[in-house]
Amino acid sequence: MINKFTNKIIKGDCLKVLKKIPDNSVDMTFADPPFNLKKKYNHYEDSKEKQDYLDWCNDWMSEMVRITKPTGAIFVHNIPRWLSHYAEHLNKIAYFRHWIAWNSGGAPMGKTLLPNHYGILYYTKSKSYKGFKFYDIRYPHPRCRSCGEFLKDYGGKKDQAHGFGPLLSDVWNDIHRIRHKKRRDEHPCQLPIPLLERLILMTTDEGNIILDPFMGTGTTAVAAKQLGRKYIGIELDPDYVKIAKKNIKAAKETKINGYFVSVYLDYIRTMRNKDFKGIWKDGCDLKLFEKKMYKILKKI
Ligand SMILES: C[S@@+](CC[C@H](N)C(=O)[O-])C[C@H]1O[C@@H](n2cnc3c(N)ncnc32)[C@H](O)[C@@H]1O
Repeated sequence: MINKFTNKIIKGDCLKVLKKIPDNSVDMTFADPPFNLKKKYNHYEDSKEKQDYLDWCNDWMSEMVRITKPTGAIFVHNIPRWLSHYAEHLNKIAYFRHWIAWNSGGAPMGKTLLPNHYGILYYTKSKSYKGFKFYDIRYPHPRCRSCGEFLKDYGGKKDQAHGFGPLLSDVWNDIHRIRHKKRRDEHPCQLPIPLLERLILMTTDEGNIILDPFMGTGTTAVAAKQLGRKYIGIELDPDYVKIAKKNIKAAKETKINGYFVSVYLDYIRTMRNKDFKGIWKDGCDLKLFEKKMYKILKKI
């Protein structure tokens, strides 16, 4: 039954489409809804009354939880203001795991602290730690761009640092918003693919199904395809559907030595802890690591 929806971008209203998806049928759901900030979309009015907006969000969040498998994960991306309300609803129907702070850089707004992060709420359907999928994730050591040396001193124990990078925390500083025109489509708030790849590597396996009810330009589907997963996308706007399909068609699997990794602009952005030794079979020389990875990547 679920197969008829997979690897498709469905043009339509997400609530209507979500209601057709069977219970407990997808492995991960991710939503990046309109933020109700009067953004300029083609086919969506981004300015509801506060309570209307929240009621609407609660409806599609309930659907996301319903269709997610007991082993699965539910993610919602938004600004902290709305996430505080989302959490109130999600706490009643799923299990809170993390508030991930994605440090994406912000602009001063006056009479506020500088808003410097978006949040990603991470919930699971299972309460028990044994009941849901989760993989430890590593990201590259922050390094000096010109000399390649570590930016952190690791308490004078650099030689004991991991060969690729630290284990991931709930604060993400190393994934940037797409500002360069060359790398973005005609959409007001396209997310970076490495952000989605990190969530996918963290909570799903090859062949799993990932659903995004606000697909925009296809970011989640591209990330899923590059990591050998299946996707289901829903999007209201026919122009964005067209862009998403084009992006998905161009996407290719990113594997090194048989392991899926997140790669962007020739560098590995995320890998699973358990895959590290297989990905880099030749040893752990820290200085060589990035150069060597670069050479390997050229062969993909
Ligand atoms: C914040 S954007 C998502 C951007 C996406 N994450 C990306 O990287 O391209 C929200 C999207 O939701 C779409 N949208 C708004 N209301 C919708 C609805 N009821 N059903 C499906 N899509 C909707 C908008 O057209 C917009 O593309």
